[in-house]
Amino acid sequence: MRNKITIIGAGNVGATCAHWLAERELGDIVLVDIPQTEGMPQGKALDLTQAGPIVGYDTHITGTTGYEETAGSDVAVITAGVARKPGMSREDLVTVNQNIITDVIHKFVPGSPDAILIIVTNPLDTMTYLAYKLAGFPKQRVIGQAGILDSARMRAFIAMELNVAVENTHAFVLGGHGDEMVPLPRYSTVAGIPITELLSPERIAAIVERTRKGGGEIVQLLKTGSAYYAPGAAAAQMVEAILKDKKLIVPCSAYLEGEYGLRDMCFGVPVKLGRTGIEQIIEIALTEEEREALQRSARLIRETMGALK
Ligand SMILES: NC(=O)c1ccc[n+]([C@@H]2O[C@H](COP(=O)([O-])OP(=O)(O)OC[C@H]3O[C@@H](n4cnc5c(N)ncnc54)[C@H](O)[C@@H]3O)[C@@H](O)[C@H]2O)c1
Repeated sequence: MRNKITIIGAGNVGATCAHWLAERELGDIVLVDIPQTEGMPQGKALDLTQAGPIVGYDTHITGTTGYEETAGSDVAVITAGVARKPGMSREDLVTVNQNIITDVIHKFVPGSPDAILIIVTNPLDTMTYLAYKLAGFPKQRVIGQAGILDSARMRAFIAMELNVAVENTHAFVLGGHGDEMVPLPRYSTVAGIPITELLSPERIAAIVERTRKGGGEIVQLLKTGSAYYAPGAAAAQMVEAILKDKKLIVPCSAYLEGEYGLRDMCFGVPVKLGRTGIEQIIEIALTEEEREALQRSARLIRETMGALK
């Protein structure tokens, strides 16, 4: 039987994620949006279907403004929500997106009680926590997407700086998805060599800073929304790791119960992704400075969580 992947929110990130997923033939895709957008998800689904004969994929893609078609989903990617506008912080989004996530979870979960949820909506860690609490799923099955994107941005900047293939790079960005995220240069490498041996502290600091502000840089450039190609690709990689049971180690927002000294919050940590969702949370050794940065980031996430009603 074919896998069923539901994408809720057929906007920029949702539709782009559908595009990346369709090409990988990981399962059939249901693209959902609100009734006010009637025709839009259907139109995008049809358009993506018609790219199939050209690109060479056989994915069935359905667009809808209801939830009937989503029943029995294996995975859901939730991108429903408002994106940041210039000058708007992710935290400003809490109230608006809290209502949207609540609506989505209540409508989606009854038809797909065994699904794995991948949350993309910002503010990411807070919305992942909210989805976890509302869905009533085991913690392994509610996962936030942030760290793959933030690490990919750092990898891209490292590759640009050293003029090497992005494939040669590896980077680890942990913590909350916000300006206090924690890029870890000691664990970031080029062909296995830590960047701390390849770049001056000043250049590393510049890469860390650009990574932290990576989302904002794109918001400033686009002026009418936030990034979607890389965010869509990041969520698609999570779907692939799950459906192919890859045991892929990547940073994701996970519900913590004491790991890294944190509990009752969702936060970016290295996890192993497989067919049951988060199969392990990996605790890596941190220096005092790195640990402090992580705690600082956690405090900010808690502040944002405080805005939940
Ligand atoms: N975690 C990350 O790394 C990351 C990266 C980029 C964007 N984001 C976030 O993802 C979200 C989506 O961004 P975007 O650029 O795709 O925005 P967008 O405006 O292009 O799309 C959002 C879509 O959600 C739909 N929607 C709103 N309420 C809904 C509901 N109740 N049910 C179903 N659909 C609903 C809207 O109609 C719209 O089509 C934003 O919150 C953004 O901040 C997160």
